[in-house]
Amino acid sequence: MRAGGSDPIREAAGLLAEHRNAVVLTGAGISVASGIPSFRGAQGMWAKYDPMEYATLHAFMQSPRKVWEMLSEMLSVCGDAAPNAAHKGLAALEEIGVVRAVITQNVDGLHQAAGFRRVIEYHGNMEELICVFCWKRYRTRERWTQGTVPLCDCGEILKPNVVLFGEPIPWLAQEQAEEEARTCGVLLVVGTSAQVSPACDIPRIAKESGAAVVEINPEETSLSGNVTDVHLRGSASEVLWQLLKELSPGDEASPRTPSGH
Ligand code: OAD
Repeated sequence: MRAGGSDPIREAAGLLAEHRNAVVLTGAGISVASGIPSFRGAQGMWAKYDPMEYATLHAFMQSPRKVWEMLSEMLSVCGDAAPNAAHKGLAALEEIGVVRAVITQNVDGLHQAAGFRRVIEYHGNMEELICVFCWKRYRTRERWTQGTVPLCDCGEILKPNVVLFGEPIPWLAQEQAEEEARTCGVLLVVGTSAQVSPACDIPRIAKESGAAVVEINPEETSLSGNVTDVHLRGSASEVLWQLLKELSPGDEASPRTPSGH
């Protein structure tokens, strides 16, 4: 932890105001308030579905219909979700020039839905389906409805264009994420347990390149206490709203100040 700073919110806001080129790394925790469960923990997706059976490329190739039980649930939960105050708060931080990009491990599209412009989707997204045999792509809504397993024109079962365990990170997203991490002044890490590689390397890359690392998470993570300089313990929506207030005091007119956190 950084020494000094008796008020971590003010300390984090000071870093953000000083650098004005922050990059954000987000994980499932930011979408919990939108009704999308996170992965780890008692209520998480992996308590219900063993990721080795449901979330690896190998499992998909062996038993795609079984893996679609989990994928269908994720698709319908994501389809019903709307951005929450945390997604809107980050979009407001981009709009006032404090944050310049978000690298997200989430596949729910909620940063874009909240109006955030520069979103790097590190694990792909649920909007597209891909055939792992002929590589043809489709819009998900054109091929999938609840209770069905979507098929390619070639007859094979389609896979959402998301990264399953055992698949590489999309090349461009990996390049862009590392470049953002190497060149930002502050990396804001929001709602991730930082247990999955290579996404969990991003904070280390930023730190080694000289950035301050600010973490927003109600819990301790693998980053807390070593990579993290300032840990803001709380829900993403609450903490981002507090940061916005610090960074734009008296800005009553801002139409995108989050509410309902
Ligand atoms: P996890 O479920 O591992 O971690 C979610 C984190 O969010 C935890 O550290 C929680 O403490 C925190 N959290 C919960 N509620 C929060 C809130 N309201 N505000 C802020 N933080 C909150 O999810 P990820 O770290 O995103 O990958 O998981 C990373 C990857 O593992 C996923 O992208 C997925 C999964 O397996 C693949 O499937 C390849």
